[in-house]
Amino acid sequence: MHNSIEPHCSRYRLFEFLAESEGEYVQGSVLTKKLGFSRQALFKHICSLREEGFDIGSLPQKGYMLKNIRETDAISETILDFLLRDIPLFSKSIYFPSITSTQHAIKRLAQQDAPEGIVAVTDEQTEGRGRRGRSWHAPASKDLLFSLLLRPELRPGDVQLLNLAAGLAVKSVLKEEYQVDAKLKWPNDLLANGRKICGILSEAAGEPDRIYYAVTGIGINVNFTEEEMSEEVRDIATSINIEKGHPVPRPFLLSRVLYSLSSYVMDLKKSDGKEKLLFSYRKECDTIGSDILVTQDEESFTGTAVGITEQGALVVKVGEQEMIFAAADVHHLRMR
Ligand code: BTN
Repeated sequence: MHNSIEPHCSRYRLFEFLAESEGEYVQGSVLTKKLGFSRQALFKHICSLREEGFDIGSLPQKGYMLKNIRETDAISETILDFLLRDIPLFSKSIYFPSITSTQHAIKRLAQQDAPEGIVAVTDEQTEGRGRRGRSWHAPASKDLLFSLLLRPELRPGDVQLLNLAAGLAVKSVLKEEYQVDAKLKWPNDLLANGRKICGILSEAAGEPDRIYYAVTGIGINVNFTEEEMSEEVRDIATSINIEKGHPVPRPFLLSRVLYSLSSYVMDLKKSDGKEKLLFSYRKECDTIGSDILVTQDEESFTGTAVGITEQGALVVKVGEQEMIFAAADVHHLRMR
């Protein structure tokens, strides 16, 4: 695991030094002197950083220049440590080029008593998990796939609140950073122009009255194109690339989402935190006020979504009756 408080290696120290002068040349002699490297070691670390995907120019008389850090799409330990270094709660990360599921990685760490806030990020999942035991497929190196270790002061019945917080965080970042106006669909989907752009899954372990840990996993469809999508998902999935017309760098997106989510999660520890979260979600959720078809345990109901309970469950008016759904699949009958 890595974090910025204990830089994990010489390569990272070199990166930080170059990052402080981003867009400017730094003499090789300055780098070797300040960092205590030999010329050979410096060259080796520069090559490794380039292999990690960084844009590092070099000129014989001028030295080395690191450019466009926030435009880097390649995910690496170095970029994660750097971009997450000042994020409250989520500054420690672990990167897997490929893994079964980031949910598994975080669960393992949680069971070993790892502290709250660790982020597991991957480029590829071989057993990606979706809600209700479904699988989650994502093309390698195109999407942002990550899970977070949380230790909230919540009861197991309140876990849905973490999905609501994550949905609000992703929604605000998509809008503010990328001008993608995604709609929140209860319980935990984000749709852009009616197609899924993000899925969220929170799982928890605990006792009836307290959570030991929760794992919130987020999959954002970032850079795949229409052509790269299989026939069967073409009508139901989209990506930031498709919505905006150009690819966007994933590490920066991750840092923005974590920054936004950290304040929701920290607020949940305060006395009025739940209320604030529910107020924002009720305001932003597109399902509320919509005519919907709800499916739960093989049974379907048609009605109008009228509210969200204190625990994040959906209240639906079915005929004259109000029904509460803690977990269900929702289909909007008309997109608003
Ligand atoms: C859903 O919409 O069904 C939820 C999908 C959640 C997918 C993310 S991708 C990162 C994390 N790892 C997983 O295996 N699943 C979640």
